[in-house]
Amino acid sequence: MREEISRVRLSYGRAISKRQFLDRFYELFMSSSPAVARKLASTDIATQQELLSQAINMVILFPQGNKIAKNAIKRIRESHCRDRLDIKPEYYQFWIDSLIAALSEHDPDFNEELDRAWRKVVQEAIDFIAEGY
Ligand code: HEM
Repeated sequence: MREEISRVRLSYGRAISKRQFLDRFYELFMSSSPAVARKLASTDIATQQELLSQAINMVILFPQGNKIAKNAIKRIRESHCRDRLDIKPEYYQFWIDSLIAALSEHDPDFNEELDRAWRKVVQEAIDFIAEGY
């Protein structure tokens, strides 16, 4: 896992340095499912982008037991639960697939191995968040 995390961090660095990366992620995520589009309808995307870029860092650091990441993901688990944002566990697949699609367009070194590494790394935080639903 350590090896995957370091490759994923470098990949994220390459993608996030492209101005359009997060916009493209939102665009793909919004169009991934009508249910997701409804959930995000009243969201101020500009405000969310800063939070999201930080949150993705926390998602990446979560599997290696980083304390700050653990706390950040715990907060997201609480805000996304049934009684608050009400994000159903099945919506996270759209999130991952949109992220991977945006990465594949913006990280010039993206390949199948990175695709697998990203999915493996991100799944840990997603499982933890979805378990809290
Ligand atoms: C691992 C995946 C995800 C991460 C890391 C993440 C992260 C975040 C963060 C950091 C925020 C802002 C602070 C907060 O409320 O906690 C947020 C808000 C939000 N997220 Fe997520 N999220 C994820 C998945 C999803 C999914 C699958 C949906 C489904 C539509 C979703 C919908 C929302 C909504 C509706 C808000 C509130 C936006 C607003 O304030 O207008 N999130 N998310």
